[in-house]
Amino acid sequence: MAGNYTFTMIKPCAVKNRYIGAILTDILKAGFEISAMKYVRMTVSQAESFYGIHKERPFFSDLVQFMTSGPVVAAILKHDDAVETYRKLIGATNPENAAEGTIRKKYARNVQENAVHGSDSDENAAIESNFFFSQFERF
Ligand code: RTP
Ligand code: MG
Repeated sequence: MAGNYTFTMIKPCAVKNRYIGAILTDILKAGFEISAMKYVRMTVSQAESFYGIHKERPFFSDLVQFMTSGPVVAAILKHDDAVETYRKLIGATNPENAAEGTIRKKYARNVQENAVHGSDSDENAAIESNFFFSQFERF
């Protein structure tokens, strides 16, 4: 059965481009509830750990550098079938392939600076949520 929670980050590019408000509005208008939220800058070792699944990929060091270049908005979002519903709302990894109206189509610059992160499975949603938030920070 699909879970009710997913994890997201508004990435440093979208923060710098002043899209925090617009992206949160799109998320709320799509029916997601905010279960937890914080504004933080990851250290290099935190980003290496968060993206550990990608450590053999050619883009890994660029990704870590990018994700530590400034603060992110990290959040746990609640919705029926949250992971799949949120991946549809954000669109494809590369904004050139993202559907019209999706968050990445509207706010991403390129395949790396693609505005937002979204968990790809219920299991990773739980791991990623636990990485950023304690039980006392969830509502
Ligand atoms: P995310 O994890 O951030 O939600 O993105 P995703 O599932 O759509 O894509 P994934 O394959 O998990 O890649 C993680 C992030 O790495 C950067 N990336 N750069 N230069 C490149 O070819 C490349 N490919 C991926 C992106 O920031 C991507 O979101
Ligand atoms: Mg991913």
